[in-house]
Amino acid sequence: MNKRLVIDYLLRPHWKSLTISFFAVAVEGVTDLMEPWPIKVVLDYVIGQKPPPAWMASFIDSVFGQNKFAVLNFAALLVIAIAAIGAVASYTEKYLTTKVAQWVMHDLRQTVYHHIQRLSLSFYDRTRIGDLITRVTNDIEAIQDFVSSALLGIVVDVVTLVGMLVVMLYLNWQFTLIALAVAPLLFVQVYTLTRHIKNAARAVRKKESEIVSVIEEALSSIRVVKAFASEGYEEQRLEKETLESMDMALKARSIKASLSPAVDIIVAAGTCVVLWYGARLVMTGQLTAGALVVFLLYLGKMYKPMRDLSKMTDTISKASVGAERIREITEIDTERAAPNMPAPRRAPPFRGKIEFDHVSFGYQEQAAVLDDVSFTIEPGQFAALVGPTGSGKTTIISLIPRFYDSTSGKVKIDDQDIAQFKVKSLRKQISFVLQDTLLFRAPVWQNISYGTPDATRDQIIRASKLANAHEFIAKLPRGYDTMVGERGMTLSGGQRQRIAIARAVIRNSPILILDEPTSGLDAAAEEKVIDALDKLMQGKTVLIVSHRLALIRRADIIIVLQDGKIVERGTHEELLQNPSLYAKLHEIQFREDAEPEVVSN
Ligand SMILES: Nc1ncnc2c1ncn2[C@@H]1O[C@H](COP(=O)(O)OP(=O)(O)OP(=O)(O)O)[C@@H](O)[C@H]1O
Ligand SMILES: [Mg+2]
Repeated sequence: MNKRLVIDYLLRPHWKSLTISFFAVAVEGVTDLMEPWPIKVVLDYVIGQKPPPAWMASFIDSVFGQNKFAVLNFAALLVIAIAAIGAVASYTEKYLTTKVAQWVMHDLRQTVYHHIQRLSLSFYDRTRIGDLITRVTNDIEAIQDFVSSALLGIVVDVVTLVGMLVVMLYLNWQFTLIALAVAPLLFVQVYTLTRHIKNAARAVRKKESEIVSVIEEALSSIRVVKAFASEGYEEQRLEKETLESMDMALKARSIKASLSPAVDIIVAAGTCVVLWYGARLVMTGQLTAGALVVFLLYLGKMYKPMRDLSKMTDTISKASVGAERIREITEIDTERAAPNMPAPRRAPPFRGKIEFDHVSFGYQEQAAVLDDVSFTIEPGQFAALVGPTGSGKTTIISLIPRFYDSTSGKVKIDDQDIAQFKVKSLRKQISFVLQDTLLFRAPVWQNISYGTPDATRDQIIRASKLANAHEFIAKLPRGYDTMVGERGMTLSGGQRQRIAIARAVIRNSPILILDEPTSGLDAAAEEKVIDALDKLMQGKTVLIVSHRLALIRRADIIIVLQDGKIVERGTHEELLQNPSLYAKLHEIQFREDAEPEVVSN
């Protein structure tokens, strides 16, 4: 989206409202000009002895009658009429501009949020959430502010400016050119200061997003903050940012404050030249005094919109910085587009064969996390990934739903490269139980049907039963309607895990991926979960990451990973036949399981 497009696209649907507002502003201007008129009518034609002009006289005759009181009635009613028309125009203009501004904000926010939701995980790995929050709130508000308070003002000022210029050129073009001699100076001044103001606004906004980030990060990890008694440290961190932001805001303000006086001085210089030169012309008889006065008055009027425009630079700068920051985000490609691939297409219904074909991957360019990984899981097979912590297990399963795209090699499902699939159609056919399950602040049933919003209550309960979650949910204060996260209603790790399994069950997809589904569970709960998984796995391709022997030993194929490479593969029995990494891991686990105090903790 380039700059022009954004404005076009946002304002075009509202051109009717904007046109009406523009006329309303014009009417407001005219009523402003007409306000003193009734007084003139009363003074001149009622109290004074002057006869009203013919058109007015005939109008008053036909409506009010033919005497001085009729004229007075007319003038009195005129006061009300002018005020009423002005009021209606003012209301219309304010209402419509606010409406347009609100719609612009709404449209923009929806568009940006739509885009942000679809940015890749690698984008989120390197972006602070607080920064994104400021972009969808403050930056968009700056644009809304511009539309509601400055947009029409600018149009009106420019129109007035051009109108005045035409009139003045018509009155006396030589003089106008002399008066305009200061205009380039004005332009340069406004231009340079505007640039400074914009830079300052940009710095302030950046600081603001850092402040939001600091707060967001501390509050979302409040448990850690408290556990390590770091409240004071977090406070200091925020104070440092706030002080810096104050500094910047003051600097921005001082630049802004210098703009108006600068413009005033330049305008005064222009008036001075006209006065000085004009008076000389009057003295030598080349110009009448009246003409000079009229010209000076007009000049004053012409400088007014210039001044107004320069005063608006602040709103304009903020909005343009806002637009710039929003554009930075919208210009980032969404995850749909895999590099060097034809346009993505919908994934067909999967049978469930998963294949890694010489896949290498790194989160950063230089550091490879996966190195030439190849394996195949047949449809309906149960595969287990094991390996020391940090060996790349979570990374492998993140490539299957295209959370990240491989740097080289191909990930295939049913023999087709998944990079060509639309992510939505791909992910729809994969169910996940992630390593750390997050629940939303919503009722339990909604947490289960998340991702399958049209699931019925029956389906939700059936899934919970399969996941061995029904029992504990039924005991919650309001059962399936209990709000998670409200009034301290949080769930234990094992309960969350079972909700996650129910969430996966309900999707009923051909591929099921589980990352440590039984971590944090005791032996009894683990047995329940394994039991649930056994039922769930029927006829599905399952890839599971786990350290738990009870789970892994049932796998059709066990893939052993070390430092991003596959070092061994086979069934439990096959792998135990040789002295292998798996055998070593198995032995350690076996020892742990044999020691009751380890199991119980
Ligand atoms: N989002 C990320 N950005 C950068 N590096 C990452 C990211 N996630 C993981 N890594 C790195 O990739 C490597 C493999 O991590 P991964 O999470 O795949 O390990 P894992 O085998 O799942 O370990 P664990 O058993 O502890 O869950 C680690 O060195 C880790 O530091
Ligand atoms: Mg992991």
